[in-house]
Amino acid sequence: MTENGEMTADEGNAAPRERFELDDALKEEIRAKVLGDGFMKIVQSVRRGGSQFRISVRPVEIGGERRYQAEMVDDGQVRVKNFDADSLSGGLDDIMSQKGARDLHLMTAKGDLHVRVTRKGRVIVSRSAEMDRKVELKPHDRVKNVPLNAFDSAAYLKAAGLADGEGRVRASMRGKYDQVNEFLKVAGEALKNSPRGDGDDSGARAFTVVDCGCGKAYLTVALYLYLTQVLQMPRVHVYGVDRRADVVAAARRMAASLDIAGDVEFVESDLAAFNVEKADMVVSLYACDTATDEALAKGVEWRARHILSAPCCQHELQKTLDDKGAFAGVMRQSILRERLCDILTDSFRAMIMRILGFRTQVVEFVSSEATARNIMLKCEYSVKPGQAGPVSEYLALRDYWHVTPWLETRLAAMLSKYLSRYE
Ligand SMILES: C[S@@+](CC[C@H](N)C(=O)[O-])C[C@H]1O[C@@H](n2cnc3c(N)ncnc32)[C@H](O)[C@@H]1O
Repeated sequence: MTENGEMTADEGNAAPRERFELDDALKEEIRAKVLGDGFMKIVQSVRRGGSQFRISVRPVEIGGERRYQAEMVDDGQVRVKNFDADSLSGGLDDIMSQKGARDLHLMTAKGDLHVRVTRKGRVIVSRSAEMDRKVELKPHDRVKNVPLNAFDSAAYLKAAGLADGEGRVRASMRGKYDQVNEFLKVAGEALKNSPRGDGDDSGARAFTVVDCGCGKAYLTVALYLYLTQVLQMPRVHVYGVDRRADVVAAARRMAASLDIAGDVEFVESDLAAFNVEKADMVVSLYACDTATDEALAKGVEWRARHILSAPCCQHELQKTLDDKGAFAGVMRQSILRERLCDILTDSFRAMIMRILGFRTQVVEFVSSEATARNIMLKCEYSVKPGQAGPVSEYLALRDYWHVTPWLETRLAAMLSKYLSRYE
């Protein structure tokens, strides 16, 4: 045991026991900690074949009384059940008698206990240094059925700085937490009806995701964990690209601390200069101004089937939009001009993506009460490019406003053959 709270490890199992089984002394220690004062939470993740089962139990307050809440996540499906102290003991027996490779994490006011059972049935026990944590009974409605609760996200939430040391989402990070959850939901839905295996049928290439303008990688890392742990995708490689050296360094540290740096790679680069041969999914969350267009363009060039982009500030169109006749009264008010430009920019983007063969939906991805930046372009490559309807719709709007959207210029090499047929 170290003085600064780090774990120390032991094999903890001197008495003979079956492979995968916890010995009696360890079971007794767990039982005493869960049933005693200061119990905070027990979480166990069991890997069965390709899928994962996770159960967590914590004390909650319901109607002024102490109860227990179990949250069970089985292959991405979440179930929550509340029960009393009498049932806790039986439930604990079930948890401790699980077989197979598993991780158990028990938190009490006095410290943490980790038990890892390896694939070969070896039991490795580690205990933190003694702590003096305050235990608060939480109201029972705290667990929500959101993607970040569908797997054991505690280490990620802590490493990303979204949660405090006791796993509570920080008030100042609630907005980012909600954005990541909603983004994961949309990504999960997008992949529901798509191939979810390796990036190509031969299995030679991993399912490749690029997060454009990844910043501190809240989304990048969560997406990797969600795809691999909840959607159980077998091989995933995620790139996070950002031009800022400091955020790339922080993102690399987070991936290393979660032991996923081999699959989650961060690149310090301007988006324009970054390339992969092929991507399966391209995402961007609040990539500034034309960086969103660059993300869309890269997604098209890398032949990504899915492109999910939540745009940020948009300035480009504002520079060129005329104070047009009947709209003069709108354009005079800077806030209205800005909003109109936002709407037009996203409309042009969606229309261009449709021309290029992407079924494109513009959806609200977080509540408008949380932020006005709550729009997402959800694009899936699934139709024949260059169809008359989307092209004429685009040209009509573009010519009405006498502008050339930045994305059209960026993708001119691909678009011009479709546009020129109708111009
Ligand atoms: C508003 S932050 C969002 C970060 C992150 N996606 C998130 O939601 O937490 C935008 C990020 O995009 C990066 N960025 C903007 N333009 C870029 C470009 N052309 N190439 C690479 N990164 C860019 C910025 O450095 C910044 O980190």
